[in-house]
This record gives sequence, C-alpha cells and structure tokens, in this order.
Amino acid sequence: MLKNKTVVVTGSSRGIGKAIALAFARKGANIVLNGRGPSSEALEKEIQACGVEVFYIAADIQHYEEAKALIHAVKERFGTIDVVVNNAGITNDKLIMRMTEADFMKVINVNLKGTFNVIQNVSSIMLKQRSGTIINLSSVVGLSGNSGQANYAASKAGVVGLTKSVARELASRGITCNAIAPGFITTDMTNELSDKVKENSQQQIPLKRFGSVEDVANTAIFLAKSPYITGQVINVDGGMLMNG
Ligand SMILES: NC(=O)c1ccc[n+]([C@@H]2O[C@H](COP(=O)([O-])OP(=O)(O)OC[C@H]3O[C@@H](n4cnc5c(N)ncnc54)[C@H](OP(=O)(O)O)[C@@H]3O)[C@@H](O)[C@H]2O)c1
Repeated sequence: MLKNKTVVVTGSSRGIGKAIALAFARKGANIVLNGRGPSSEALEKEIQACGVEVFYIAADIQHYEEAKALIHAVKERFGTIDVVVNNAGITNDKLIMRMTEADFMKVINVNLKGTFNVIQNVSSIMLKQRSGTIINLSSVVGLSGNSGQANYAASKAGVVGLTKSVARELASRGITCNAIAPGFITTDMTNELSDKVKENSQQQIPLKRFGSVEDVANTAIFLAKSPYITGQVINVDGGMLMNG
C-alpha cells in the first residue's frame, strides 16, 4: 500500500521525524527529509538501504515561502505527494509570568503556522490528485495544558483545530487529515528535562515508562494505511490522558 508512494516528513533530521521517515522507507515509500541544517549522510544511507529514493530539502517551515519551495520541489521531483507528516516542532518553556511575546510567537510560528504553511501548499496538489494523507504532530499537552508550556500547549491545541478543519474541508476528495498526540517520548526534546521531572512524569503514566520514537512511527504508518479515519487525534501516551 505504501510502496513507491512519496512521503514528506518535516523535521526528520532526528527524533520522532527520523523514526517516521525510516518506518515509511521500510514499507517501500520514497522519502523526503527536511530540517533547517545540512542533510545527514548516515540517515540518507540508512534510508537508501531500504531500496527507496531519498531527497533532503533544507527549509525552515515557519517561513511560508520556504514551506512553499519545499512542497514544490517535492512535486517537481516525484510528481505526486501521497503522505505529509507535519512533525517539525520546538519548545521554549517558561512560566506565563516570564514568557515574553517573542517566546510565545517563536513556538506558535514553528509548531502551528509551520504546519499551516505546509498544509496550505500541499492541499492544492492533493486536491488535484484526489488523494492524500496528512498527519500532524500535536501533543497530549495540547489537550490537557501544562504549567510552563503555555506557548507549546497553545500551538499543539491549535494543531488539533487545524487538523479537524482541514479534515472536513478535504474529505470529499478522499484526503485524510489526522493528528498524533504523543505523551513523553524519549528524544532530544525530552532529554532536556531534569531527572526529577522525568521521574515524576513516569509516575503519572499508567504504563510507567516513556514511549519510544517507534511507538509514534507505528501510529503514523497505521494512519497512512487507514483511509476511513479522518479528523481524529490519536494519543500515544502510555495511557496518560484517557478521553471519555
Ligand atoms: N518528544 C516528545 O515527548 C514529544 C511529545 C509530544 C509531541 N512531540 C512532538 O513531536 C514532534 C517531534 O518531536 P521530537 O521530540 O522528535 O523533537 P526533536 O528531537 O527536537 O526534533 C525536532 C525536529 O524538528 C526539526 N525542526 C525544528 N524546527 C524546525 C523548523 N522551523 N523547520 C524545519 N524543521 C525544524 C529539527 O531539525 P533541525 O534542528 O535540523 O532543523 C528536528 O529534526 C514535535 O512536533 C514535538 O512537538 C514530541
């Protein structure tokens, strides 16, 4: 089902994005990697070893023109864009009292506006194709809120509203749009947390451990193989948030 498809994963130089790119490559999809810096030769080789094509495009997705150039370069190289995973994201944690307007906007611009920038540019291509899968990375924090993360939680809650609206707009052309809301996943992002915060967090997780990047990647593959699921938010959080 995913063989020879074109899959774009933003923010795929490391962490969850890298694992998602590798998971799709193992299913036979051609992969477009993205980050702000230079490409990783080692990652490109790992993906090529799956017998698929890999194409790295440096772009800072918070800038509309860079997101547009990214999507257009993919279309030019592969002709179709089958799956887009909006994974690029950042944190900049501070209590609200100390959070400046710049601190707030920095996170909104990458996590929410960056996701909009990519979807807005890919939507016309997918509408013409009459097919496509969009997967956005939200967070449990976007659903529950978290002290010290007003900017991040707001951006990830925004991603949920964006996901559901786009799902409704594009459904009639067979395009799905869903979000994944991870809890604590072991990556550079969570490695920044102190040992005390990590220990406390684990105690609040019913499965009593952080998730792996593969846990999230498996969910992305599941969504890409599920054309009758749209407008949903799937929590990958060890049971942290059990919605009614
Ligand atoms: N880890 C968790 O526990 C967790 C939980 C919930 C949700 N999430 C979400 O999952 C996603 C991935 O998280 P992660 O933990 O894997 O993060 P990470 O290890 O910090 O990696 C973030 C990736 O995004 C890229 N990136 C950052 N800003 C970018 C920009 N403006 N344009 C393009 N690429 C950009 C980074 O590449 P460069 O630095 O090379 O640009 C990197 O590849 C994020 O959206 C995050 O909010 C993570």
